Amino acid sequence: MRHLIDFGDMTRAEWDTLYQRCEAIMDAPGDYLDACRGKVCANLFYEPSTRTNFSFQTAMLRLGGQVFGFADPQSSSVAKGETLKDTIKMVSGYADVIVMRTPWEGAAKAASLYSNVPVVNAGDGGHMHPTQTIADLVTMTRLRGGVDGLTIGVCGDLKNGRTVHSLIKAMEKFQNVRFYLISPRELGVPGYMKDFMRQRGIQHLEVTGLESVLPQLDVLYMTRIQRERFVDPLEYKRCKGIYVLTRGKLARAKEELLVMHPLPRVDEIDVDVDDDPRAVYFRQARFGMFGRMALLADLANQPRQERTEPVAIGCHPICRNPRCITQTELYLPPLTKEAEGKTCCGFCDKELT
Ligand code: NCD
Repeated sequence: MRHLIDFGDMTRAEWDTLYQRCEAIMDAPGDYLDACRGKVCANLFYEPSTRTNFSFQTAMLRLGGQVFGFADPQSSSVAKGETLKDTIKMVSGYADVIVMRTPWEGAAKAASLYSNVPVVNAGDGGHMHPTQTIADLVTMTRLRGGVDGLTIGVCGDLKNGRTVHSLIKAMEKFQNVRFYLISPRELGVPGYMKDFMRQRGIQHLEVTGLESVLPQLDVLYMTRIQRERFVDPLEYKRCKGIYVLTRGKLARAKEELLVMHPLPRVDEIDVDVDDDPRAVYFRQARFGMFGRMALLADLANQPRQERTEPVAIGCHPICRNPRCITQTELYLPPLTKEAEGKTCCGFCDKELT
C-alpha cells in the first residue's frame, strides 16, 4: 500500500499485518518510540476535526516523529486561491507523509496523483474515511476477537456519513458480516455503496427503525446527522433527533453488544449510556490512535517517489456531484471506474449520468 485513500487500497494481508503491528504497539508502546524518528507528517485539515487531527498528531509524536500543518485552511495560501495540486506539490517536498481532510469528495485521490510521498485520506466530504475504519476494526478485533460473523447495525445519516461508507467497504475482507442499515429513507446509503455490497455479496437490509433490530446486533454503530452536508436546511430539521439511543432501549440488546460511534456525538446517544460497559466509543477513539501509529510507522518510512511522468490531464468526465473535487480542480485527469455495469467518477464514485 502506497497511499490510503479508500479501504479498498488495503489487501486483507496488509490489514492483518497492520493489526498485528497495532497490537504490538498497544502491548509495548516503548518499543516504538523511534519508529518514525526523523520523519515529518503534514496534517492538512481543510475541515474541522478533533479526534482525527489530534490522534494523527499524537500517533506521530509517540513514534518519535514530528508534525506540522493547518487546522484552518484560511491560515494557508489556500485562502489566496492556491490549487490543491500546488499545495500538495509543495507540502510533499517538506513532509514524509501527508494526512488530509477536505470537504471535497475525491480530493485525497487527486492529491495522491501529485504527491511524492504517501497520502492518507482523513475524510473527503461525505465520501470516505478509511482511518476511522482502522479505529473501528481495531476496536472490534481487540474487544471481540475478530470481525467475521458479526451482525452490525449502522444507524443515522448513512447518505452523508463517510465513516459508514468506509466501514462497509472494509467488510469485503471479512466473512459472513451482516449489516442492518438503519436510517430515514432520505438518508440511506448512496447508490455506489449499494452496488458495492451487491457486487461483493455483503448481506444487508435497509430498515427505518432501530428498536426492532437492536436485540439482534453484535455492534451498534451510531452516527450523527451530518448537518454541514445538507443542501436543504429543512431536510436537516426533519431528520435531526430521529434516533436517540437511551439506557432504556439498551435493555433489550445483547449483553456483549458493542455500542460504537466515530464521534462527535450530538444527541443520538443519551449521556446516561456512557456508563454502560457496552458503550465503547471513547475507547474506540483511543484505539484509533494506536491504529494510526501502526499506519504511520509503515507509510512515513516509505521512500520518496519523485514523479517524472506527467499526469495525463485532459477533459475530465462531467461528474454532477457538486462536492466532487473535479468541480473545483479543473486540471484533473479523466478518471472513471466501472461498477455493476455503470460508469462512475474515479474520484468521488458517483455514477456519471
Ligand atoms: C467523523 C467524521 O469526521 O467523518 N468524525 C471522526 O473523524 N471521528 C464523524 C462525524 O463527523 O460525524
